[in-house]
Amino acid sequence: MSKSRAVAILGSTGSIGGNTLDVIRGNPELRVVAMSANTNAGLLAEQCREFEPRYAVMADPDRAGELRERLRSAGVNTDVLAGAGELARIAALPEVDTVMAAIVGAAGLESTLSAIQAGKKVLLANKESLVMAGDLCMRTARSEGALLIPVDSEHNAVFQCLPHCDTALGGEQTRHVEKLVLTCSGGPFLRKPAAQFDSITPEQACSHPKWDMGAKISVDSATLMNKGLEVIEACYLFDMESERVEVLVHPQSIVHSMVHFEDGSVLAQLGTPDMRIPISCALAWPERMPSGADAIDLAAGEPLEFMQPDLERFPCLGLGLDAARQRGLRPAVVNAANEVAVHAFLGGKLPFSGIAGLIESVSARIPCGEADSLAIILKVDGLARTYAKELIHKQI
Ligand SMILES: NC(=O)c1ccc[n+]([C@@H]2O[C@H](COP(=O)([O-])OP(=O)(O)OC[C@H]3O[C@@H](n4cnc5c(N)ncnc54)[C@H](OP(=O)(O)O)[C@@H]3O)[C@@H](O)[C@H]2O)c1
Repeated sequence: MSKSRAVAILGSTGSIGGNTLDVIRGNPELRVVAMSANTNAGLLAEQCREFEPRYAVMADPDRAGELRERLRSAGVNTDVLAGAGELARIAALPEVDTVMAAIVGAAGLESTLSAIQAGKKVLLANKESLVMAGDLCMRTARSEGALLIPVDSEHNAVFQCLPHCDTALGGEQTRHVEKLVLTCSGGPFLRKPAAQFDSITPEQACSHPKWDMGAKISVDSATLMNKGLEVIEACYLFDMESERVEVLVHPQSIVHSMVHFEDGSVLAQLGTPDMRIPISCALAWPERMPSGADAIDLAAGEPLEFMQPDLERFPCLGLGLDAARQRGLRPAVVNAANEVAVHAFLGGKLPFSGIAGLIESVSARIPCGEADSLAIILKVDGLARTYAKELIHKQI
């Protein structure tokens, strides 16, 4: 990569954050200016010791004292900022040109939007930002000249396959495209009978056969809600109607997605299932740089399979697809209900098989209009969360 880059990593202590730091380790022309965590002061302190950023944000202000103390005793000269409000500030710092948006869930929306408003190159792992506020994010990116580069492996694959891969171009980039196909590993329960879904434990749901990820996205991958959220994300990113975004189960996770063109050509991006590949692609874009991932050996690997998803056993995917069709505030409601449901499942308060029903009940209760402003999106997100928590409370 020819140009040096100054990077802020929102969510540096997570799975995407750790992979991003690993790529940066191998590419010293990248410099970390700021990083953040929610509660993990120990890991953030270690990361500050190694990468010496100018700023570190503890989103949970009660943990900022611990981080300051750890850095002071290690002699690290990083300014510690406390509270979620500071995330938006580091995302918009003038000395930062590239922002990795890798906070999990709705908590990442405001800082992602702040980076977009500041016209940064935004590497988007936090899909929930686009799910909740897709129109707002894309409109703002166009008006402020921000470049959005998807990090989700499927969207990054589509991005790489499009001839004019600049999300600011809107529908222009998919002018000769017939459809997008997002591949889906099928998760850990691809072949498990639905009758056994009641007894699934959080540990089983978090053991993904191909990808090593944070807990929330692992559960989303097990219910296939992740793929529903990704269809919504793709519709906004590439300005496509949901009817032209298909899902195909591909258990080997080698083909990361495909673009079908009107002349019958199909372009796909392949690689080992290693998030350092889309992360380094996004960091270096429009150039390339080493990622540290293993090279692919197609002759030595399993045969590649493709099959239709089973919407009966995985109703969360259907709920996501419905939300992609409806747009407006519906995706924000589904996202909020899903976050509460996943949290309850991880905490042993909701069975795996209860996740879809909870989302459906919340969606039926909350009427949805247009997602015109951040205020209305946050309001409906709050309503959906409150109602979802009430429903869980009634069940216990
Ligand atoms: N993991 C993957 O392979 C993958 C692939 C594609 C897309 N994504 C997307 O990337 C995003 C991150 O996923 P992940 O798997 O890296 O998640 P993760 O491992 O759970 O990490 C989440 C990060 O966000 C921080 N965080 C959590 N809650 C927060 C809050 N309320 N306020 C501020 N920061 C908060 C965490 O800090 P603490 O460590 O202090 O809790 C951590 O740094 C998600 O949107 C996911 O869908 C992930």
